[in-house]
Amino acid sequence: MIDIHHHCLPGVDDGPRTLAESVDLCRMAADEGIETIVATPHVLRGRWQNTSRPQLAKILDDLRAAVGDRPRIVLGSEYFFAHDMDEMLRTESILPLAGGRYVLVEFASNNVPPLVRDPLYRVQLNGWMPIIAHPERNIVFQSKPEFLASLLRIGVKTQVTTGSVTGEFGPEAQATAIDWLQRGWVHVMATDAHNVTKRQPRFRAARERVAALVGEEIAQSLFVDNPKSIVESRGLVYDPDLPDSLVPESGGLFGRIRKLFTK
Ligand SMILES: [Fe+2]
Repeated sequence: MIDIHHHCLPGVDDGPRTLAESVDLCRMAADEGIETIVATPHVLRGRWQNTSRPQLAKILDDLRAAVGDRPRIVLGSEYFFAHDMDEMLRTESILPLAGGRYVLVEFASNNVPPLVRDPLYRVQLNGWMPIIAHPERNIVFQSKPEFLASLLRIGVKTQVTTGSVTGEFGPEAQATAIDWLQRGWVHVMATDAHNVTKRQPRFRAARERVAALVGEEIAQSLFVDNPKSIVESRGLVYDPDLPDSLVPESGGLFGRIRKLFTK
């Protein structure tokens, strides 16, 4: 399995502080069946240090030397959305996942800024593939799923956190994650691990839960095939089309109103 969202680099963000803590985190990931980690330090201007590429490359080299090749570790980032994302990519201020075309983008958990659709569309015209990190933990996406759907329709992908499916981020995130998995709105699962205590790199339990919810074939796509495509910068194996309308054919308030007028 491949984990595309993982804060395993020491001393760069709110992940491990020391190399020893990072090594423990990577070993725990390997025990969970994770063969490749994409290290995704936060990129948030003015907040986190050590975000220059040469510094990150040096930190990654030191971690690889200590961990070996199980798991393999490659570099990426988790970019905190700003409206000049296009410019940030052009000037190589954002590290795409594994140096490819996919870019992991996060929002604060309690809001989404206005007018995000245009920049998320524009970067795709330049060949980038934005993946929204953990929308199921964001209260705006939780309460307005149609807003997320509008982003999915313009090609944006979603990453749901393994701990959301198993309930570690509360009942709202769990219910939302399960709902979206069943709708086919989730493209990749990842741990968003930060440490070996509270934000662990857990994969196995979530994979079993996802397989029970949507079947083994889709679970395989979300935990293995799509992450592999992302790391190799190819099209996703599992990328279902979205229905034009969120209104069910029958049932629901709008469906019932529509029926009244079409009888
Ligand atoms: Fe993260």
